[in-house]
Amino acid sequence: MQLLCETSPDWLKLALERFDEVLVDHAHCEKKAAAHALSMLAAFPDVPGLPRAMARLAREEAGHLAKVLALLESRGLSLGRDGGDPYAQALRALVRQPPAERLLDQLLVSALIELRSRERLQLLADNLPERHLRDFYEELAQAEAGHGSLFLRLARKVAPDGLEERLAVLAAAEARFVRELPVRAAIH
Ligand SMILES: [Fe+2]
Ligand SMILES: [Fe+2]
Repeated sequence: MQLLCETSPDWLKLALERFDEVLVDHAHCEKKAAAHALSMLAAFPDVPGLPRAMARLAREEAGHLAKVLALLESRGLSLGRDGGDPYAQALRALVRQPPAERLLDQLLVSALIELRSRERLQLLADNLPERHLRDFYEELAQAEAGHGSLFLRLARKVAPDGLEERLAVLAAAEARFVRELPVRAAIH
């Protein structure tokens, strides 16, 4: 699956200039990814395979969080308050509420967010000046690609009805948000 637009070079420029802020936001992203995986488990306890997949994902995201927090500490930065993520909020607002639709939409929105995160972490991996940071982001970008596939695979298995049509709608909205929301010194 492909995202429908590429991140603008303005984002990369800002992210490299204000990398410390991006790093703090990145920690919040990993925190929310772990929490979101557990909230999926809580919301859909009877969907075959979903609770276990989400438990494993939560553990992996919490591992990423611990690594990003260690990096923050090594740079004398603290986590601070979560300033929010307008991009993810805009996408989550598109999730429909009836249970079957909600399951499909949550999985597809999660897949899109993971894939956008992968794209941006890869841009950091390719462009940060320090070798250890490049390696770190390379590894995390690969993980996010895996998570994008996990959510899509789960969606195909547990909520296949109308999937392709809905994915087209949500992917178009995702690309619109990426183009229209202000560029921030943040992962999204
Ligand atoms: Fe992660
Ligand atoms: Fe992830």
